[in-house]
Amino acid sequence: MQTWRLDTARQTLCLGSENGGVPSVIYWGAPLPLTEDLSQVALAHIPDVAAGMLDETAALSLCPEAARGFPGQPGLQARDLNGARLLPRFTLARCTQKNGELSFQLTEAALGLALELELLADPDTHVIRATTRLHSDTAIVVDWLAAPVFPASQMAAEMVEFSGRWCGEFQTRHLPWAPGARLRDNGTGRSGHEHFPGLIVADPGCNNSSGTASAFHYGWSGGHRMLAEELADGRRQIQFGHASGSYAPGTEFETAPLYLTRSDQGLNACATAFQRHLRDRISPPVKTPRPLHYNCWESVYFNHNLKELKDIASRAAALGAERFVLDDGWFGRRDDDTTSLGDWVVDPRKYPEGLTPLIDHIKALGMGFGLWFEPEMVNEDSELFRAHPDWVLGPMDQPRGRQQLVLDMSRSDVVDHLYGQIAALLHDYDIEYIKWDHNRVLPGPSAAQTKGTYALLDRLRAAFPAVDIESCASGGGRVDFGILQRCGRVWLSDSNDALERMRIQHEAALFLPASVTGSHVGPRRCHTSGRVIDMATRAWVAAQRHMGFEMDPRELTGAEAETLSQVASWWKTNRDWMQQADILRLDHADPAVLAEMQLAQDGHRFVAFAGQRETSDQILPRPLRLTGLEPLARYEIELINRGDTPALSRGTPALKSVPLTLSGAYLMDHGLTLPWNLPQTIRVIEGRRT
Ligand code: DGJ
Repeated sequence: MQTWRLDTARQTLCLGSENGGVPSVIYWGAPLPLTEDLSQVALAHIPDVAAGMLDETAALSLCPEAARGFPGQPGLQARDLNGARLLPRFTLARCTQKNGELSFQLTEAALGLALELELLADPDTHVIRATTRLHSDTAIVVDWLAAPVFPASQMAAEMVEFSGRWCGEFQTRHLPWAPGARLRDNGTGRSGHEHFPGLIVADPGCNNSSGTASAFHYGWSGGHRMLAEELADGRRQIQFGHASGSYAPGTEFETAPLYLTRSDQGLNACATAFQRHLRDRISPPVKTPRPLHYNCWESVYFNHNLKELKDIASRAAALGAERFVLDDGWFGRRDDDTTSLGDWVVDPRKYPEGLTPLIDHIKALGMGFGLWFEPEMVNEDSELFRAHPDWVLGPMDQPRGRQQLVLDMSRSDVVDHLYGQIAALLHDYDIEYIKWDHNRVLPGPSAAQTKGTYALLDRLRAAFPAVDIESCASGGGRVDFGILQRCGRVWLSDSNDALERMRIQHEAALFLPASVTGSHVGPRRCHTSGRVIDMATRAWVAAQRHMGFEMDPRELTGAEAETLSQVASWWKTNRDWMQQADILRLDHADPAVLAEMQLAQDGHRFVAFAGQRETSDQILPRPLRLTGLEPLARYEIELINRGDTPALSRGTPALKSVPLTLSGAYLMDHGLTLPWNLPQTIRVIEGRRT
């Protein structure tokens, strides 16, 4: 058996190939000694053959093969153009290993196939990137191609995955492992509110700060397929790839990168590995310090009036906004969502002198200017559709979504046209930001469509490197490391309800750092939930990520405006270190509380946010246990929004009036006892190492 290993300080991954077959993961776990004899690990890995099985136990390899009797889903399912199933048995031709990268070249001479499996381990972030490529000498149909397949822990009792909906992204599901397969196959053509492409496999007892877990994310914006399968023999496999039907017949096929990591220190260690990897390795450079946004959508919707927008911009700037984003409604004859997508020309009825008067006003206020687009879409009521009805993706009798159709981004003429229109606006106006929306599902998944979008984004970024781009798809419908390689921010949800947002961004932190996660202060009465939430709560929730405002500033009372300005100014003072901080989710004994910390990279300071989402069952707050601190170090702890404490809190807990100095051991073991608080509020605690 040939063997290889990849190491980071947190893990060792060992692979073995028996008789020149496709390599398998023979160990993925805590770091092994460098002296470990891999041939012994390989021998120890050989499974038995027992009654009721074939006479050989086929390997759960990086690409399991049906032709070798693998009793679960194979890693490749392909047909020739006549529909005959291809049943490859690959042989290892070559392996190259350098700088944490392993690349296996395999061939299947009889079928004219070549397979490349690539694994790259990042020594600093602890994330492994795994990609599969397939070449065929003749055109074939690929129904399924998995990124390198990993075994799942047989110790785990459950898997954690994410579903969701519009305004309800990142709903965490805990599903029990059982014989058979858990399959997600997302045919929507985008990563999707419903199907965030991630999975966590946690051993029993794993929580945010302790225990063993492995975590997976498929970095693709076109919809993924995930299989978590337990075979009859008890082995378990995880497969990720493009959604069914994504590949057109051809000769070259490639998966997106599968990002994976593992930890023995709880979910937070996996989360911070992904957060850091995305922020430090994948995310494009963006303007710093990150400007505080104002977005006018929930303030004016399609009703653009220059005088009013100038007034709103002035008020937003006075509250602390540094970038004004003009949302949907500025182009074509876009008075509602039935018309004009595709006509990326300023509406002369609303802006007779173009956007210059508005931009000049915004710049004079010291803000930058951002503009909304939805480039991949078209309304039938548009000049573009009338000129090019053939540019539509899919049949004309397909159901509409938000009354719109999708452009076929695999066509170079479509991409060229969109590039021309967007580039003209970026040339003509001082635009530093694009909000790139995508408000409907596709008629079907298509890798070519996703690649066309990536190509357009890449071309615009190359030509306008100073323009930051945000990915939005009715909120969080396109959140993944593929789009985030091109966009420095995601609009995580259309829900500006602070209670919902607190939960959504908290769950999303299992993958996303604060630096890419947009969060806005919405209207007093939330437009999507109808809930009325206090300004302090709305502001502090937004201040946990990349902050912005989205309410109509004309609705604010003097007190609300003052609170908002104060929190905005706190955010500006702290944004530089917070954007680089690790978000650590806190386990709390009270289900009414949702808490997290942001810990500076050097560990010298942190801020903890404890959201009291509803009334607790018991009267007094349960302690808030912190994490990630040095047990022997001492920290000065201050409840910075103690002024918000309600009159019903009548006692004298010290934090209501003074800072405390406590050891990391105390804060992590006992935890902080906070004063009583009303539901729908948030406590903000700053800590500094003394
Ligand atoms: C959906 C987005 O998520 C909103 O923020 C807004 O930009 C609208 N589209 C505009 O149509």
